[in-house]
Amino acid sequence: MGKKFIIGGNWKMNKNIKESEEFAGKFLGLIGDSYKKVEIIIFPTFISVPYVANKFKDSGIFTGGQNMYFQDKGAFTGEISPSMLLDAGATHVILGHSERRKYFGESNDLIAQKLQKAHDSGLKPILCIGETKEERENGLMESVLKEQLTNSLKLIDDKQMKETVIAYEPVWAIGTGLTATPEQAQSAHEYIRKVLASIFNEKTAEKVRIQYGGSIKPKNAKDLFSKPDIDGGLVGGASLDPDSFIQIINSV
Ligand code: PGA
Repeated sequence: MGKKFIIGGNWKMNKNIKESEEFAGKFLGLIGDSYKKVEIIIFPTFISVPYVANKFKDSGIFTGGQNMYFQDKGAFTGEISPSMLLDAGATHVILGHSERRKYFGESNDLIAQKLQKAHDSGLKPILCIGETKEERENGLMESVLKEQLTNSLKLIDDKQMKETVIAYEPVWAIGTGLTATPEQAQSAHEYIRKVLASIFNEKTAEKVRIQYGGSIKPKNAKDLFSKPDIDGGLVGGASLDPDSFIQIINSV
C-alpha cells in the first residue's frame, strides 16, 4: 500500500533526564537501518524531550510530546504549547491518550481543538481512541469508536486527516498484559477505516495509518503487525527497554 509503518514508544511518566539519555544512546547502537523501513518516534516526558531529540539528531529517529495545549502561550498554568515542543526538537505529538481522558478529564471537544492546532503548528499528531472493558462487554465498541472519531476529527480537513495517525488502544489492553488478539485488533481497525471513509472518503481512509496499542510485547508484535489494517504500533511498557523495543520494531 506504500504506507510507512509507524511505531511509537510512549514512556508515560517514566525516566528522568539521565535515564532518557542513556536509553537514547543505547537505542542508537541497536537501530541499524530499521528507521528506513519504520517511522520510529520516542515520546519521553516533556522535561526530557530536548535531551532525547538532541541525541537523535540526524539519526532518522523522531521525538515527540505526550500531550500539548491548543494555544501558543499565555496564562495556562502547567500546560505546554506546540511551538515549545517544536522548539525543543519534537516533531510528533500524542493526543487524547486514554490516560489523559480518564485521569485528566479530556473530552473529544478539547482533543479536536488540540488536533487542529497540532496540524496548524506543524506537529504530526497521533490521535488515540479505544473502548473500555465495560463498553466492549456491553456491545458498545463500535459506537464508542465512532463517537470518538466523529467528535475528535470535526475540525480538520481531508488533507490534514491523511497526515493524522490513529492509535486504536483498547483501554482494557493498556498496561494489563491483556493484548487484543490480532483478529480483535484487525476487526476494530477495519471498522475505524470504515468510519473514516464515511466522515471523509474511501481514498483518505485508505491513506491513514492506524496503530494498535495495548500490551504490545516482542512475543506478540509480529502477529499483530501482519494484519492488513494494522499500520503500526504504540508501545508503552515494552518501549522502556531498548532491547525489547528494538525487537518489536524488528518484527515488522
Ligand atoms: P502498554 O501501553 O504497551 O504499556 O499497554 C500502551 C499505551 O498506553 O500507549
